[in-house]
Amino acid sequence: MEDSKNNDYSEKFYLDCGMSTRAIHAGEHVGQFPVSSHTNPIYQTSTFVFKNADEGARLFSGEDKGYIYTRLGNPTVTLLEAKINSLEGGDFKKANPDARISTLAFSSGMSAIASTLLGLLSQGDTLIMGNVVYGATEHLASNVLKKFNIKSVEVDTSDLRAVERAIIENPTAKAILFETPTNPLLVVSDIKKISNIVKNVNPKIKVVVDNTFATPYLQRPLELGADIVVHSTTKYICGHGTVVGGLMTTYHDDVKNAVYMIIKDVGGSPSPFDSWLVNLGLKTLPLRMEKHCSNASKIANYLNEHPKVEKVYYPGLKNNPYYDLAKKQMKDFGGMISFELKGGFESGKKLMDNIEIFTLAVSLGAVDSLIQHPSSMTHACVPKDKRIKGGITDGLVRVSVGIEDVDDLITSLDKGLSLL
Ligand SMILES: Cc1ncc(COP(=O)(O)O)c(C=O)c1O
Repeated sequence: MEDSKNNDYSEKFYLDCGMSTRAIHAGEHVGQFPVSSHTNPIYQTSTFVFKNADEGARLFSGEDKGYIYTRLGNPTVTLLEAKINSLEGGDFKKANPDARISTLAFSSGMSAIASTLLGLLSQGDTLIMGNVVYGATEHLASNVLKKFNIKSVEVDTSDLRAVERAIIENPTAKAILFETPTNPLLVVSDIKKISNIVKNVNPKIKVVVDNTFATPYLQRPLELGADIVVHSTTKYICGHGTVVGGLMTTYHDDVKNAVYMIIKDVGGSPSPFDSWLVNLGLKTLPLRMEKHCSNASKIANYLNEHPKVEKVYYPGLKNNPYYDLAKKQMKDFGGMISFELKGGFESGKKLMDNIEIFTLAVSLGAVDSLIQHPSSMTHACVPKDKRIKGGITDGLVRVSVGIEDVDDLITSLDKGLSLL
């Protein structure tokens, strides 16, 4: 039975091209049968037909590479994996021509994160984790991994000394996982410096970066020294709010094989149709990200001057403590903004009920602007003192800035804020 996937479609990386060309062309027609469809077809099938018993046997033994069954691989999924190889790993490969970049696609961001961690960690190992990660990632560590005797410890990854201490104090650590920028306060961690510390202090540890908020358009962790990148494609990568999906990219063959074994045996592969939608969304990723960033920057500056706003969290504001690091590490500052209303909890709820154009919904990274009030929604179940200690105050509002006309968004915020 085939137990690894060959994802090194180097000839389809478009290494000498820019991000927009890669987003459109990389991976197209990879794995496709020689027919003349311009756009990639959706191979909406659970299984694949063998020409004869010998071919079936060769595919199962791994002697021939090819498709057997969609949980193990599907051409529409392969295209998505090849495109991300180019976007997330293309420049790393240019600098390291012998590297074999591999991407695996999953049915959700959590499936990508869980499969990656299950591939990396065994009982008795420790996971070092950023102290602010997506709620389900935290639950995965504290509920699921714990059941298998995998310990997790939290560290503020924006504090490099704390990272070094955590690595020294946890010699059984095999992975460090963190998000940058974080949700919802947009804290930025230095991927390059963290990777250097890991390599100097305990090179057995793999550096895993959740790049969901930044996308490869803004930040490519492999180039900065990380070993593995994970994504929820549900957000900017798909970009249209139509899919729940995930990705993992690495240049370590052993990691790719270990994680592939988890997808193969535990499940978690994406559907061909979802992969097709993500491929379609990806073609406009650079275009969308440019607009998300320019809209967010204008809105952050508007909010920063507003008398009803206490504080704005956006790394692109010059007074933000992470401005210099974000400028160095990212191409632009992203499309996510959080801000604190002076009027507290009631003001937050009132703004949600009165704002126009912005869609009242959790999630992020869609073409339309989304707004939510963490203390009455995503973080309502967190004990108040813990929530406030983590900076999620009663009046905090999170906005995923879309790609609408920014003047309309500012007019809408202006009207909403005037009612508070
Ligand atoms: C940073 C981050 N990572 C992972 C996830 C999980 O992704 P999914 O919902 O696709 O499983 C999310 C979801 O919001 C997220 O924001």
